Amino acid sequence: MSCVFYYRDRAMARTLNGYLFLVLAIILLSVGPTEQLQSSQAETLRRIQYLLDNPPVLSGWKDGTDFCNTEPNSSLTIVCYEESVTQLIIIGENGAPALPQNFSMDSFVTTLVKLPNLKVLTLVSLGLWGPLSGKIARLSSLEIFNVSSNFLYGALPHELSFLKSLQTLILDKNMFSGPLPDWTGKLLNLTVLSLRQNSFNGSLPDALNNLESLRVLSLSHNHFSDEVPDLSSLRNLQVLDLEDNAFEGQFPKLDNRLVTLILSKNKFRSGIPSELSSYYQLEHLDISFNSFVGPFLHSLLVLPTIIYLNIAGNKLTGMLSENQSCNDELTFVDLSSNLLTGSLPDCLSDSKKRDVSYAKNCLAAEDQDQQPLSFCRNEALAVGIVPGQKKRKQATKTVLALGIVGGTLGGILLVGLIFLAIRRTNARKPKKSPPTRLITENASTGSGYTSKLFTDARYISQSMKLGALGLPPYRTYSLEEIEEATGNFDTSAFISEGSHGQMYRGQLKNGSLLAIKCLKIKKSQSIQHFMHHIELISKLRHRHVVSALGHCFECYWDDSSVSRIFLVFEYVPNGTLRSWISGRRGRQSLTWSQRIGATIGLAKGIQFLHTGIVPGLYSNNLKITDILVDQNLVAKISSYSLPLLAEMVKEGSKMPSGGSKEIIARTNQDKTDIYDFGVILLEIISGRPFKSNSEVDVVKDQLQSSMMGDDTTRRSSVDSSVRRACSDQSLRTMMEICVRCLNKEPTDRPSIEDVLWNLQFAAQVQDAWRGDSQSSEGSPTSPSRQPSLHLSIG
Ligand SMILES: *[C@@H]1O[C@H](CO)[C@@H](O)[C@H](O)[C@H]1NC(C)=O
Ligand SMILES: *[C@@H]1O[C@H](CO)[C@@H](O)[C@H](O)[C@H]1NC(C)=O
Ligand SMILES: *[C@@H]1O[C@H](CO)[C@@H](O)[C@H](O)[C@H]1NC(C)=O
Ligand SMILES: *[C@@H]1O[C@H](CO)[C@@H](O)[C@H](O)[C@H]1NC(C)=O
Ligand SMILES: *[C@@H]1O[C@H](CO)[C@@H](O)[C@H](O)[C@H]1NC(C)=O
Ligand SMILES: *[C@@H]1O[C@H](CO)[C@@H](O)[C@H](O)[C@H]1NC(C)=O
Ligand SMILES: *[C@@H]1O[C@H](CO)[C@@H](O)[C@H](O)[C@H]1NC(C)=O
Ligand SMILES: *[C@@H]1O[C@H](CO)[C@@H](O)[C@H](O)[C@H]1NC(C)=O
Repeated sequence: MSCVFYYRDRAMARTLNGYLFLVLAIILLSVGPTEQLQSSQAETLRRIQYLLDNPPVLSGWKDGTDFCNTEPNSSLTIVCYEESVTQLIIIGENGAPALPQNFSMDSFVTTLVKLPNLKVLTLVSLGLWGPLSGKIARLSSLEIFNVSSNFLYGALPHELSFLKSLQTLILDKNMFSGPLPDWTGKLLNLTVLSLRQNSFNGSLPDALNNLESLRVLSLSHNHFSDEVPDLSSLRNLQVLDLEDNAFEGQFPKLDNRLVTLILSKNKFRSGIPSELSSYYQLEHLDISFNSFVGPFLHSLLVLPTIIYLNIAGNKLTGMLSENQSCNDELTFVDLSSNLLTGSLPDCLSDSKKRDVSYAKNCLAAEDQDQQPLSFCRNEALAVGIVPGQKKRKQATKTVLALGIVGGTLGGILLVGLIFLAIRRTNARKPKKSPPTRLITENASTGSGYTSKLFTDARYISQSMKLGALGLPPYRTYSLEEIEEATGNFDTSAFISEGSHGQMYRGQLKNGSLLAIKCLKIKKSQSIQHFMHHIELISKLRHRHVVSALGHCFECYWDDSSVSRIFLVFEYVPNGTLRSWISGRRGRQSLTWSQRIGATIGLAKGIQFLHTGIVPGLYSNNLKITDILVDQNLVAKISSYSLPLLAEMVKEGSKMPSGGSKEIIARTNQDKTDIYDFGVILLEIISGRPFKSNSEVDVVKDQLQSSMMGDDTTRRSSVDSSVRRACSDQSLRTMMEICVRCLNKEPTDRPSIEDVLWNLQFAAQVQDAWRGDSQSSEGSPTSPSRQPSLHLSIG
């Protein structure tokens, strides 16, 4: 029992060991050395040995073993009092496998409760498996219960709440799941609650606040989510470890006597509260790998007891300076991957004394990899914007990239700094690298800025959530990155020019490809004006939509209005959907199944544009040439009606207002996308490209009449390259939905959900049919419905 707790922090170990030894001492003091065990309890211990499948640690237990008088050691301890076992500690071999199939946790617990005076029960690494039986509550004296490193699963039995004397509950490294129940708040004497490495989920109950004795709350490596409830009433809490969960929202509210605080690998996305400067006992602070934003608290470096400080992998801003001081005891500091600027404090540069990392910031330091200053400025922009209000007189038209870095001193003074980098505008045909100037400006201070910063931070995290697409998270790009990626907008990178601006292909340093839309802004507008557009664009991320990866603003120097916006999208390499239908030279056309698959993708993309984002995007003017296909033949919509583009067209005229009129108009517009979808579907079925609406009408009428005919008639109107390889049922379904989509009366067109349902039905019958026809192929006795089918099936 010497190394009782996992926590390495000295004060922690001190307090906890001290505490535990006190408990044990009380128990031990009352133990006489020549205790004789009741025979029924000796029987029970041997039964336990049998149920545990005779583990090596119990190999010394023989018939006639005097259990109460064996020498305790680190893996086996039995303590008796008045002929009863009061402590049973069995620690098996690390990594012990699960007990055999015929083990039953329920009967094991039934046996255990025959030791009714147990106060300490530790059963670690013994291969216990199954749900924890509620019968355990019959051990009503239990004070310490430790079943770490087993294979227990299921929810916590509510009977645990009857264990009123329970002080230490350790269930680490099992497979428990479900929420941490409200009744946890009834275990009023609980001092240690450790549930590390399980599969608990849901939010933490507010009732945790009742646990006034709690010193250690360790919930790391679970799936807990939502905000952490206010825990500031836990006045004895010394260790809070929430590492690797899915907690989000604000920094937890805690008592300032905390010693160890670990929040790393969650989804917190607030600022760091200045109260943290008052945590006078804090030794270990780890908030790494979250989305914390706003100013880094310099005061953390000088907390009186701080030893370990890790803020890596956040978006903390601020300017460090050489003469910043640090606590002498500080031995580990990791500041890497934030948005810090300035220079590394001298007190951190002594590498012998401390382990210090600060790579991937924008510090003036050579020995650890740093980003260009513009990177931090641009990233900071993404989480908060201070409008460049003061106009500056400057004759030449220059461009400014705007960024902010805020910093606080001692949690009292909040100083925002705006960096204005000036570049010349000739990005289109740059010859020589323009001179860069840096101006540091004192921003207006105050909490107004701070709260704005947090609101803006929200959308970034929101879009990061959708990162499951295998795409990098949405972010701001620096102008340098855009220029480098496009070779200074070289003509070889040029893809197309539309009414709103040019499209370029770009390649990042690591080889990943981008599509960059370059929008020239004619009317003088501040960055702020565009932020709500950017917010919407950042949400445009879906498997069947060419997804947004980021943006970059380029501004005029003289009034800091926006000159150009670059929208960065994923690059979709394999051409338009049309090129896969009309069988261009050198390219196979899609099979019937693949065609159905592409239309399902397209419909899902439309559904996302209508309902997956708020406000939805309607009337997207969908054309088959704007549907792109990636290397896995996934169809992606590349044209959508961004309000930003609409606004640019209407530039000069009034901004559209989001009034109710518009909303009514939109519900009808909904059906224009359905019509456009019908046109695309018609081309996919017939294999014929259309040049005009009247052509569409003609082919639609042909399709409609052949639909009524027999199997052969129907097939005659289908693209010859798939004609033989489609099931009649799937063909009929596709034709039907196509004709309905092309209805002249918008209200008679089907909803996108209806469309999707029909397409999926068509895919299913096609699949079943394909399976059928293939399995019957080799069998001479089965009727060969379509003898030559297999020729055209991939
Ligand atoms: C609980 O078991 C673990 C083994 O996983 C051990 O490290 C720890 O010291 C035990 N704690 C108590 C209080 O018995
Ligand atoms: C489990 O089965 C093994 C043999 O298959 C047997 O030796 C053992 O006694 C059984 N254990 C229990 C708890 O029934
Ligand atoms: C503890 O004692 C038991 C027998 O009493 C023995 O089997 C076991 O190996 C011992 N463990 C250690 C770590 O000494
Ligand atoms: C909690 O502990 C105190 C003192 O340690 C004790 O008096 C009290 O009975 C305990 N409460 C319960 C419910 O056991
Ligand atoms: C917790 O996990 C279970 C499955 O293990 C799931 O059914 C339940 O919805 C989850 N609860 C929350 C709040 O995520
Ligand atoms: C910024 O503010 C400080 C003190 O408030 C002042 O000394 C300094 O001159 C200001 N800097 C600029 C560029 O205005
Ligand atoms: C390339 O770098 C960008 C960041 O600059 C990153 O998001 C992307 O995932 C990287 N791609 C590859 C293929 O490594
Ligand atoms: C898609 O395009 C890439 C690059 O242009 C090419 O290497 C790949 O073969 C194409 N995939 C298909 C399925 O045509």
